[in-house]
Parts: sequence; C-alpha cells; structure tokens
Amino acid sequence: MKHRSNAFNINLAPFVLKPAAGGLGAYVSKINVESISDLDFQFLYEAFLKYHVLFIRDQKLTHQQYLDFAQRWGEIVHYPFSKGVPNYPDISEIRKEPSDTLNFGGEWHSDSTYLLEPPVVTMLLALEVPDAGGDTLFANTRLAFESLSPGLQNMLEKLRAVNSAELKRLGGRRDFSLQRGSMNHANLDRAKEVEAIHPAVRVHPETNEKCLYVSMSHTSCFEGWTEEESKPLLEYLQTVITRHEYTCRMKWEKGTLGLWDNRCTQHLAINDYGGSRRTMHRLIVRSEKPKASIGKKAFLKGSFRG
Ligand SMILES: [Fe+2]
Repeated sequence: MKHRSNAFNINLAPFVLKPAAGGLGAYVSKINVESISDLDFQFLYEAFLKYHVLFIRDQKLTHQQYLDFAQRWGEIVHYPFSKGVPNYPDISEIRKEPSDTLNFGGEWHSDSTYLLEPPVVTMLLALEVPDAGGDTLFANTRLAFESLSPGLQNMLEKLRAVNSAELKRLGGRRDFSLQRGSMNHANLDRAKEVEAIHPAVRVHPETNEKCLYVSMSHTSCFEGWTEEESKPLLEYLQTVITRHEYTCRMKWEKGTLGLWDNRCTQHLAINDYGGSRRTMHRLIVRSEKPKASIGKKAFLKGSFRG
C-alpha cells in the first residue's frame, strides 16, 4: 500500500485532533473509523506520522470491522504468543482480571522487536477500562536519539542489537507470562528460538528520522558484545528514552482505539488499577525489516555481517 506523506494539512482534517504532550501523542474524536473514506484515512495517516500515537475515541467495532480497519494499514501480523479470540486468531485479548496482580506490557518496549520483520503498527481497542488508572505511557525514540552526543550517536549507528522473545531479564517468557493468568498464551516454550538482530538505530522509512531501537525488555546485547558489557549502555539508553520530555501519558476510555508506530516509539502499560478488570483487543499490522541509519558498506567495514 502507498501512503502520501506530507501531502495533507492536518488542520484541514475532518476530525478533531488534540495533542497529548509536546513530544508525541494525540487524541482524535468526531470520526468513525468503520466507515472512514480513503481521503479521510489519508488525513488520519498523516496524523499518525506526525504524532506517532493516536487515541481515537468512541469506536464501536465488531471483530470483523476491527480487522477490516486494521488491514487498511497493511497486512495483519500474527502474534506467536497468543491464541487469539474465537474465529479471529490474530486478535489477541489482553485482559487483566481484578484478582491479577501483574499486567501485560508493564515494561518499556517496542512491540515484537524479536521478529525478523516486526509490526509497524499496534492497535488496541479498549473494551473494559478501570474507573481510574490503567493509562499507557509512550516515549519518542527519535527525540531520545537526537539528544545524544555525536560521539555516542556515531557509535550506536554502527551497532546492531540482538533482540530475544525470551524476556530473560524478566525471568523468562514462560514464568513471566504464566503469572499473567488471564491471558490466552501460546508457544511459551518456543520463545528462546525467536530472536532477531536489528540495527540499534533504525531509520523511519517514511520520515527519514533516526530512532533508537533497543530496549531493556527485549534487547539482550549488542552484536559482538557480551550481555554484561551491553547492560550498562542499554540501561543508559532506556533512561534517556524515558525522560519525561520525550513521553506522553495516554488515557483510555471504553471504545478508544489506540494505535501507534513501533518504529519510533516505546510504550509501557501502567499497572495501577488492582481490583478492576481491563480488557483490550490487540492487532499488530504490517511487517517491516528495520533499516539501518548507515549503509551496508559501513557495516562491512566494521565487525558486522551486512
Ligand atoms: Fe506492547
């Protein structure tokens, strides 16, 4: 699918858009995504490229309508660690029961970076939300990269990072996931096999901006470095990514359709609503191989395989 970047003036968009913070994020209202025209979709896509995180209010969608809307953003990606809802294997239910103590997505990360071609867009449709709490934090990884010194930027641009689905720092995917008893898990014992090496700094192919692409949750090490050597730098970068000025805190309502660009953001689901149920339906969309910020030749000059 083709998207026309910078072709639409968001001020003329047929919906109401309210930025959530200075760094990223916006709320969208007065639009029905189920019947959105191609022209209006282009405005929405333009807003997505500009704000990276959109929370679209008041959507009532059947499973099929949700799937149909998601497919306008690209091909659906199957999440290997969830069975999905009945008849819709790609719609993952993310549910926290009142008795659950831990939540899903409670650590900073970009989605599924351990896949060879991770999803560009993640969507969450809020079905049940607590009366208070349950917000999601987002961070702008482009702003974080731009804040680094040229010396560190140059070094990072030559590095590749090993991303693992095993969640080693969180105790391993099996134990970690089974503590989240209300999820419909799958393939937990295969997480060790799911690993991908990506550039530590990726270029957003539609905006050409350079973005950090490592996290403490998924990145086990830099290629050619030990985990012990990698950890201090990963910790530092995670701290930079989550500086308050690069983040926004988004509030859900029942019927909010949240969607975000995994190429230039990280997120964290806040676990502050014990005793309440929260239910989301998730879709991940459009596989894309992360592109390095420097060319293949530069990789070959160093100690990296192109
Ligand atoms: Fe996530």
